[in-house]
Amino acid sequence: MENNNLNTKQQFGSNFGFLMAAVGSAVGLGNLWGFPYKMGANGGFAFLILYLILVVFVGYVIMLSELALGRKTGKGVVGAFTDLSKKYRFIGWMSAIAPWLILSFYCMLGGYCMKYALANLGDVFGAGWGVAGADSGAYFGAFTSNMVETSIYSLVFVALTVLIVLGGVKGGIEKFTSIAMPALFVMLVITIIRSVTLPGAAAGLEFMFKPDWSAFQGTGWITVLAVAGGQMFFSLSLGMSIMVAYGSYLPKEQNMERSALIIPFADTLVAIMAGLATMPAVFAMGQTPGAGPGLLFITLQTVFGAMGGFGPFFGFLFYFLVFIAAITSSISLLEGITAVAVDTAAEKGKTIHRNKLIAALGISIAITSVLVSIDGLGANGFPQFFGQGCWLDAIDLVSEGILMPLAACYCAIVIPTELVKEEVTLNGNQFRTQKFYDFCIKFIAPIMMVIVLLGQMDGFFGLGMFG
Ligand code: PHE
Repeated sequence: MENNNLNTKQQFGSNFGFLMAAVGSAVGLGNLWGFPYKMGANGGFAFLILYLILVVFVGYVIMLSELALGRKTGKGVVGAFTDLSKKYRFIGWMSAIAPWLILSFYCMLGGYCMKYALANLGDVFGAGWGVAGADSGAYFGAFTSNMVETSIYSLVFVALTVLIVLGGVKGGIEKFTSIAMPALFVMLVITIIRSVTLPGAAAGLEFMFKPDWSAFQGTGWITVLAVAGGQMFFSLSLGMSIMVAYGSYLPKEQNMERSALIIPFADTLVAIMAGLATMPAVFAMGQTPGAGPGLLFITLQTVFGAMGGFGPFFGFLFYFLVFIAAITSSISLLEGITAVAVDTAAEKGKTIHRNKLIAALGISIAITSVLVSIDGLGANGFPQFFGQGCWLDAIDLVSEGILMPLAACYCAIVIPTELVKEEVTLNGNQFRTQKFYDFCIKFIAPIMMVIVLLGQMDGFFGLGMFG
């Protein structure tokens, strides 16, 4: 194992390893759960087209900017923005607080996935600790409002996240994601084959892919654009300190432009595949896709329950793959803030004990994720904030709804294009998309981000600004 405790700079061992880590961060609950539903509810194929345009014109350029900023400065997000100018330090902090907040509910949801993978495994063996044919809604309600059980699962998920990150960038994150991501891909393909071959699967494909332009009518397109934009930032892990940190671990000889293209491509591919894995099965079993945790844990569990003999097996496979997707994202969230903690210690001239910092951050996340767990998605009667129904939504509003698009917007404005050009063209590489990049980063990205921000706030606060 590499020596993580001393002041040695962490680095990825290979470009493949870096890509798996970055794609692992991008591919998460957002892809497997948010994307298919949002696509179906917001215009289907029409949404997909818009999403793809956003990924290319905004996602790609911000991704490249963040990676370049990280590699150029060799620092986590706070140090990186401070290197640009002291007055940009607050942007770094915004991007560092958001992942810390997100970890609180992400670890809880990761814990839910573990619970469901285990329960389905129990059903495979006909064991008493399975779902055992219980009503999915009642089963979910009983589990989520059980403060002790949800807290334990959250804590186990936090512990696994911490353990992998303790292994270091190369020995922990890279090693784990290099195996987990290809495995996830294979599991996803198997699930897709089962889903699309069920009788009645076509209705699910229609739900996802049928163009529904009525969603775009009047000012509806602004809402759709905001939903697609918000989804894109979250899904690509942008504005969150992660791509800056991962960029800082990227050896100088790697071609950055190519990576910035591959990561969004792979992320989008998995999002569409997730739709193929879930939606046809949902419709084939006579269900309709709802929003929120209900889709992932109630509707889909009903689907596996109704599938007959092999249902629990596919249930196990599916929840296990969602768990893998979640943990490769949560380790990136923890690494993003670890990088900040390491830099801050270095700035103060302290000896850097990376592992101690990770442990301290891990404890703080253990506390917040237990708090979010005992709220039980709002079922346990605790006071609620910002007009939201549960703590998860309130934290999501602040982190994903406000901090993330704001930070990404600043990214587009303050990272000098010269810096990006310099990083991309190291080792004589050509910057093939430079004109495109310059145009998008100057005009399209900032405008889009303002729309996303307005749309998110509109959606969350129910202002009805866009009809
Ligand atoms: N991209 C992850 C997903 O789609 C979530 C995430 C967001 C991970 C931000 C890291 C940073 O679920």
